[in-house]
Amino acid sequence: MSEENFPVIHYMGINQKVPYDDPDSTILECSISHQIPHLHECGGNGRCSTCRIRVLQGSKNISPPTMKEREMAQVRRWDPSVRLACQCYVKGDIAIQRLVWTSAEINKLQLETVPEGVAEERAIAILFCDIRNFTKMAFENNTFDMAHILNRFYTTIGDPILFNNGVIYQYIGDEIIGLFGVAGGTREKNCRDAARAALGMNYAIEHLNQMELVDFDLNIRTGIGINFGKAFIGHLGHPKHKQLAVVGDPINTASRIQAYNKDVDTRILISQSVLKSVPEDTFDLGKEFITKFAGHEHESTLYELKGFKELDVQLELQSSMDFLFTNKDEFAEKFYERVFAKAPEARGLFKKNMRDQGRLLTHMLGSIVYSLSRPENLSSGLEFLGKSHSRYGVTKEYYPVVLSSMMETIEEQLGENSTPKLLMAWEKALTYVTGEMMKYSG
Ligand code: HEM
Ligand code: FES
Repeated sequence: MSEENFPVIHYMGINQKVPYDDPDSTILECSISHQIPHLHECGGNGRCSTCRIRVLQGSKNISPPTMKEREMAQVRRWDPSVRLACQCYVKGDIAIQRLVWTSAEINKLQLETVPEGVAEERAIAILFCDIRNFTKMAFENNTFDMAHILNRFYTTIGDPILFNNGVIYQYIGDEIIGLFGVAGGTREKNCRDAARAALGMNYAIEHLNQMELVDFDLNIRTGIGINFGKAFIGHLGHPKHKQLAVVGDPINTASRIQAYNKDVDTRILISQSVLKSVPEDTFDLGKEFITKFAGHEHESTLYELKGFKELDVQLELQSSMDFLFTNKDEFAEKFYERVFAKAPEARGLFKKNMRDQGRLLTHMLGSIVYSLSRPENLSSGLEFLGKSHSRYGVTKEYYPVVLSSMMETIEEQLGENSTPKLLMAWEKALTYVTGEMMKYSG
């Protein structure tokens, strides 16, 4: 117990001890009120599992698992030490560890829903991406440079998969495979997510070529193929070394679609099943090809994917993340300067450390960009944030001030990377975010 006789929560990873000073708050709420970053994508609704903790000491001092926790623990095969921080109240000292640290880790949680030892049929979108001329590049650069380039490549093209609720299935040499819809989702959403990831990859590769690989006199080119269909998915293999395995014709076909880019000199090709999954006029398409893949009796029609016909807010936001938050502290500092210049009385609402507050804000903005691909979680997350802001004394009038200050800071930080399309996407997203939060302000 702490000096004031409050139970103490010891956060082991960061070795920080905080008093549990409000018996009506959950462990998650206690983290937030002590400025400890703690992911909570669904806003404490027991749905997303991102707030999960491992209880290392004092498990008897925590309220018993709620129905939501019990259901989740059963589906995801958790041991009893794993709990949802948003469902737990504390009666005595405990030591815990937060188990999910970054938004990029969240998609992996989908794999917990994949069966063990058997394979189950699931409808998924499959994306194959391959670096062109990899063998020639490997021959011309030394091994050290090559390992560095491959690492940068994997991060650059892995991010768009993660931004779009996809799971990175495998890296095979110069190839990366992404799966969309492993834990469900509509056919339309899964195909849209995969298409957005492909377009985001191309964008990110261009950026990598221009900003980093010029020094190596390199220009990476990629080929991407996307297919949609039912595949068998499970954790299979030796009992001591089970691996995620995905098998079925749609997987092989996605690989062949990817390879076909080489024959026709395109960058992204999608199958007819992907095109049929979205409403007409969703995609901006280029050329159309008819081919017959080995082993197939029928011909397949492939379409060159060039973009979305209408502004895709998520794609724009994702493409700006790399350079927008390169210096998060500076972003936050400039943003708060603007807020306090426009509304000096807002300063009094902030009671805690402003540097930590700035980090929580930029962390939250990053998480919001990720959770745009999980809208069912985003709206409840914003309800939670809106309600907590109402408790901080934030009234409706402040939201337009924050919106305009954030837009000005975004434009300034984007600098020469700023485009009207990008600004429009940020404005749309932030108008939605502040609009949702504002609904809960007094
Ligand atoms: C885009 C909209 C906004 C986002 C994403 C955002 C994000 C955050 C986050 C992540 C926190 C940390 C605590 C928590 O998670 O509850 C926070 C705290 C806070 N925010 Fe916001 N916020 C927004 C709008 C506003 C507005 C309009 C105001 C009004 C001035 C405001 C004032 C505050 C205050 C006073 C705190 C508590 C600080 C303290 O306890 O010292 N926020 N905000
Ligand atoms: S399950 Fe706890 S925040 Fe979503």
